[in-house]
Amino acid sequence: MQPVKKVVLAYSGGLDTSIIIPWLIEHYRCEVIAVTADVGQEDELDGLEEKALKSGASKFILQDLKKEFVTDYIFPMVKSGAVYEGKYLLGSALARPLIALHQVKAAEAEGADAVSHGCTGKGNDQVRFELTYKAVNPKLAVIAPWRDPKWNIRSREEAIDYAQAHGIPVAQTKKKIFSNDTNLWHRSSEGGVLEDPAQAPPDAVFSITVPPEKAPDRAETIELKFESGVPAALNGERLEPVSLMSRLNQLGYKHGIGVVDMVENRLVGIKSRGVYETPGGTILYAAHREIESLVLDSRTLHYKEIVALTYAELIYYGLWFSQLRVALDGFIEKTQERCTGTVKLKLYKGNVIVDGRQSPYSLYREDFATFGKDDVYDQKDAGGFINCFGLPLKVQAMLKIDGIGTHKYQEMDYSKFKRD
Ligand code: ARG
Repeated sequence: MQPVKKVVLAYSGGLDTSIIIPWLIEHYRCEVIAVTADVGQEDELDGLEEKALKSGASKFILQDLKKEFVTDYIFPMVKSGAVYEGKYLLGSALARPLIALHQVKAAEAEGADAVSHGCTGKGNDQVRFELTYKAVNPKLAVIAPWRDPKWNIRSREEAIDYAQAHGIPVAQTKKKIFSNDTNLWHRSSEGGVLEDPAQAPPDAVFSITVPPEKAPDRAETIELKFESGVPAALNGERLEPVSLMSRLNQLGYKHGIGVVDMVENRLVGIKSRGVYETPGGTILYAAHREIESLVLDSRTLHYKEIVALTYAELIYYGLWFSQLRVALDGFIEKTQERCTGTVKLKLYKGNVIVDGRQSPYSLYREDFATFGKDDVYDQKDAGGFINCFGLPLKVQAMLKIDGIGTHKYQEMDYSKFKRD
C-alpha cells in the first residue's frame, strides 16, 4: 500500500473508533479527520467533537443525514417489504451505505487519500462499508485497523489502557455491556450475555421500547396515511419524514412494539444472536402491508414477496449500490403507484392490531366478495375452473387406481414406466 497522508475515519465516538485516531497517527503517520453521520442516534452525539479532537483528529465533521436516511433509504425499504431471515428489519445494514457514501464525499472534499472504519473483522458492517467505498470511489485506500497486522489490541481492557495512555476520555465507555447500534429506525444489541442464545435478554438490553408488561393497559388507536407507498400523515396530521419516524418511534416505545430476538446468519459465515428494537418501523411495516393487500392483485403481490427476499439480502449483504437493487426499485416503484390510503392500527402491549384499512384504489369489492347476485362473478364458472385447475391431480390419482402410481401421495415410482 502507498503511504497515506490524510485519512477520513467513520467516527462513532465509541471506544473503538476513539483509539483508532491515535493508532492511525502512530502507525500511518497521517492526518486523521473524524466524520460522524447523524442518523438519529441522539445523545450518543453529545461531546463528540471535543472527544475526537482530544483523541488527535485534525478536524471533526458532523453530517446530518437523518432526512436522507428516512427518505432515500427507509421509505424505499418499507415499500419493498424487505425482512432478513423472516425477522430482522435491517436497521444497521440499511444505514451503512448512507454513512459510507457521505464518508467518501467528505474524503473527496477534504482531499484525503484514504478512508477508515472501526468495524471488527468478524461482522457484516466491514463488508457494507467497504462495498460502498468500492462502488462510490474505488480509488481511495481503505484502512481497516481491526484486520491490520499492526493492530494488537485484543480486548476491551487493552483498548481502555491504550485510550488512557493516549489521553482519551473513557469514563462512560467502561461499563458498556453490549455492542449497540442506534439510529432513527432501530437499535441493535449483540455480544455480552446475549451470546448465549438459550438465555433471555436481560432488561438492560432494551432502551427504545418498554417491556410489554409496563406498557399502558389501554390500547391506543392510530391512523396512518400513505401516498404512493410513502407514509405521509399520522392521525390526520401531515408530517415530514423525520418527524413522522420520531413520532412513530415514540408510540412504539410507549407500547413496547417491535422487539425481535433472533439467531441470524452473518454474511461472513458466523451465526450470531441479536436483539433488535424497531418500534416505529414495525408499525410502518404492518400498516404498509394492509394498503398493499387492498390495491395489489394476487400475482403482483406474490411476486413482490419474492422480490422482498432478494431486496433484504441485498441490503444485508451491503449491496445497496448495486445494479440489481436499482433495477428492483424500478419494479417496486411501479407497484407503489396506487398504494394510497389509510390504515387504522391499535397499539397494545407489544402488538400492532389492524383496525381497518381503506384506499381509493382498492381492488376489494364488497359486492364481488359476498354471495350477492351480480354479473362479474358467475358461480357456475367455478365448476369449470376447478376441473381444469385440478386436472393434474386427477390424472395422477387415476394412474394410481390403475396401479401405475405409488401409494404415497406425490411420490411417483417412475420405474413402473420403464420399458425393458
Ligand atoms: N447483526 C446486525 C447486522 O448485521 C447488527 C449489526 C450491528 N452493528 C454494530 N456495529 N453493532 O445488520
